[in-house]
Amino acid sequence: MVSVGIITVSDRSSRGEREDRGGPLLARLVTENGWEVKATAVIPDEQKMIESKLIEFADGLKLDLILTTGGTGFSPRDVTPEATLAVVEKRAPGIAEAMRLESLKITPMAMLSRAEAGIRGQSIIINLPGSPKAIKECLNVVMPALGHGIEILKGLTGDCAEKLNRP
Ligand code: MTE
Repeated sequence: MVSVGIITVSDRSSRGEREDRGGPLLARLVTENGWEVKATAVIPDEQKMIESKLIEFADGLKLDLILTTGGTGFSPRDVTPEATLAVVEKRAPGIAEAMRLESLKITPMAMLSRAEAGIRGQSIIINLPGSPKAIKECLNVVMPALGHGIEILKGLTGDCAEKLNRP
């Protein structure tokens, strides 16, 4: 069972001024995929607070997958990618590239996403955009590869060729 943490990054939602729609949507999509949401948080666009929460979810709770939503754009307050880069030990650029590639087929605004992804310990951290529509579109792109990525990271499988049934 894949354990998941969800972090909504939004000044207004953290102050209770705007309903957090992204976090609950992510939780539903993850649960529908058969994974288990173990922890959620709604925090402001403060780099140090985002870093602390990512570290808590990765090192403390040892979650397999940590999804953030929001704070990846061009607003001066958007620092989720910077916080992510500060705490990951390895980047996983293909994940964010895939999201942008597929999203660009839907909207040119996708190029405004500065989302990052990477690995800390045995956790995969992925930034998603803030809007519910964008969350759905991006999660659909990465979901099919994540189970295998998590298995490799945890040392449960190393044989991609066999797993993917290649000749
Ligand atoms: N990706 C998809 N698939 N669909 C979208 O509608 N919106 C974009 C982009 N990525 C979008 C998307 C927009 S408008 C912005 S500004 C950036 O994500 C950053 O979003 P964020 O600031 O909410 O994180």
